[in-house]
Amino acid sequence: MIAIVAAALLATAVPPGEEPVDPYPQSNANAGATPLSGTATWDAFHGEAGVSRIVDDLVARLVADRRISDIFKAHDLVRLRRTLKEQFCYVLNGGCAYTGRDMVAAHKDLGLQTADMGALVEDLQAAMRQEGVSFAAQNRLLAKLAPIKRQAIGR
Ligand code: HEM
Repeated sequence: MIAIVAAALLATAVPPGEEPVDPYPQSNANAGATPLSGTATWDAFHGEAGVSRIVDDLVARLVADRRISDIFKAHDLVRLRRTLKEQFCYVLNGGCAYTGRDMVAAHKDLGLQTADMGALVEDLQAAMRQEGVSFAAQNRLLAKLAPIKRQAIGR
């Protein structure tokens, strides 16, 4: 009995520092893109530590970027950092599972425009450059993320 209650609590547990969200089915398919093959790009991103630095830097840039900072205010940036790290790791074939919401559900109430996507991509390029990721490897991730634009923005 105790084991069952403990398992149920674990399944619904909110990671430390995050706010709860409505329940949703978890699946790698929610990442909105399939993983690259091989490990060359993962290595070019300097693995888990590199992706962690890039996402931390990216989120700092997003909230400082006057074009889009308002969109991120009042959202759970602890959760955003965690799920973005999982998503990038999954797509870069780094062996992670993505546990976040699907890309349509995560963005449906934000009213995003094409220009918002352009700003986010510029901030991501700056974060990847700061980490010393080669231009070719940067473009392999961006090509994988490109189809997500339609899911996040709806056009
Ligand atoms: C390739 C494009 C994009 C990717 C890969 C992406 C990825 C993600 C991920 C993984 C999450 C977290 C999902 C979850 O909480 O379960 C998220 C949420 C969010 N994204 Fe994006 N996103 C993209 C485009 C954008 C753009 C263009 C903006 C605005 C400029 C944006 C703003 C947000 C915000 C504010 C949240 C938090 C929503 C909430 O807390 O309810 N995203 N995104």
